Amino acid sequence: MTFRHNSSVAAVNSPPIAEAQAWIRGRTFSADKPLLDLAQAVPSYAPAEALTRHVATVAARPATSLYSAILGISELRAAFARHIGAEYGARVSAENVAITSGCNQAFCVAASALAGPGDEVIVQVPFYFNHVMWLQMQGIEPVYLPFRAEEPGRLQLEAIEERLTPRTRAMVLVSPCNPTGAEFSSADIEAVHELLSNRGVTLIIDETYKDFRAQAGPPHTLMSQAAHTRDGLVQLFSFSKAYSMTGYRVGAIACNGTLLTEIEKILDCIAICPPRISQEAAIFALEHLDEWRNDKAGLMKERVEALRRVFAQSNLSYRLISSGAYFAYVRHPFPGTPAVEVARGLAERENVLCLPGSFFGPEQDDYLRLAFANLDSHQFEPMVERLLASQKRT
Ligand SMILES: Cc1ncc(COP(=O)(O)O)c(C=O)c1O
Repeated sequence: MTFRHNSSVAAVNSPPIAEAQAWIRGRTFSADKPLLDLAQAVPSYAPAEALTRHVATVAARPATSLYSAILGISELRAAFARHIGAEYGARVSAENVAITSGCNQAFCVAASALAGPGDEVIVQVPFYFNHVMWLQMQGIEPVYLPFRAEEPGRLQLEAIEERLTPRTRAMVLVSPCNPTGAEFSSADIEAVHELLSNRGVTLIIDETYKDFRAQAGPPHTLMSQAAHTRDGLVQLFSFSKAYSMTGYRVGAIACNGTLLTEIEKILDCIAICPPRISQEAAIFALEHLDEWRNDKAGLMKERVEALRRVFAQSNLSYRLISSGAYFAYVRHPFPGTPAVEVARGLAERENVLCLPGSFFGPEQDDYLRLAFANLDSHQFEPMVERLLASQKRT
């Protein structure tokens, strides 16, 4: 007997990080050529010790084992509203904030509250794969904006306008971008938002990497605009990277109250509430770890600079197309060879694990994504040596 499954889910690719990790499963690596793991965007450092100590204390409190409100502990919603209000120069109400079990869940519930089967969502290529996987599973059609390697940090208003149809419900933007690391300017983001708002289309902006921007000042001024304009805006955040809390699973959404009411229904069904102990950790992070977060963001900026230097100073035929936040997007020197083959070869022969561009959208076979946040700067030289060695093999 063959049991039938949901064909929309079955049609979606396997989880990309797990696929890449399978390339090295069961292998051991010698001390003279250890694995350089550039696959998943995980900070290379532990969370603040003060945070883990706090979590140990909180674990003993009876209330910690209970559900919280669906949209999160009110203290956390208020602390997060204050935090983004200060960062974006805007007045943000706790009523406009939902806490989620990570930013991936934030995207899923926001997208599902906005769009359903047969609707369209515009997605910038190269995209964050989990966004597109979710849309496809829901029967929502991703409509792609093509990549322009010569201007990875610009948004293409005309191309966006051409893709708007009566079925368009939203456009999703990741800034700074995963996988390119590119940051979109405040002016570009605002222009896109205006274009979309005038057509009743919501901008979903995933700002998971907001703390790792090179540009100073607020990422955009959309939060401080009038409520009717802000209504077409959904902002997504993550505690995973800024506080090195990937396993705690805390994210957040800021959007208008009407949409939040819809989102609340979905969150109730899938998680009831975010893990309470993790929410306590997030409150602590917001209240006590500004300095820690800024130090780590500074460290990441140093890594971006170090990475750009090693690429500029070597004889690499791998070309750095774009870099920033946690990522480098690189053109590999084997035109015509599928990126997945190049990435697999690097894993098997050079012990360098990275992701092929093809995981991030159509026509990305010339590229690789290096999540350099996982490496300390002293590992960049060996990384370049191994990339050089891979060039010589062909
Ligand atoms: C753009 C983007 N959004 C969301 C996430 C997931 O964040 P979280 O761990 O909060 O679910 C990631 C993780 O890599 C990401 O790169």
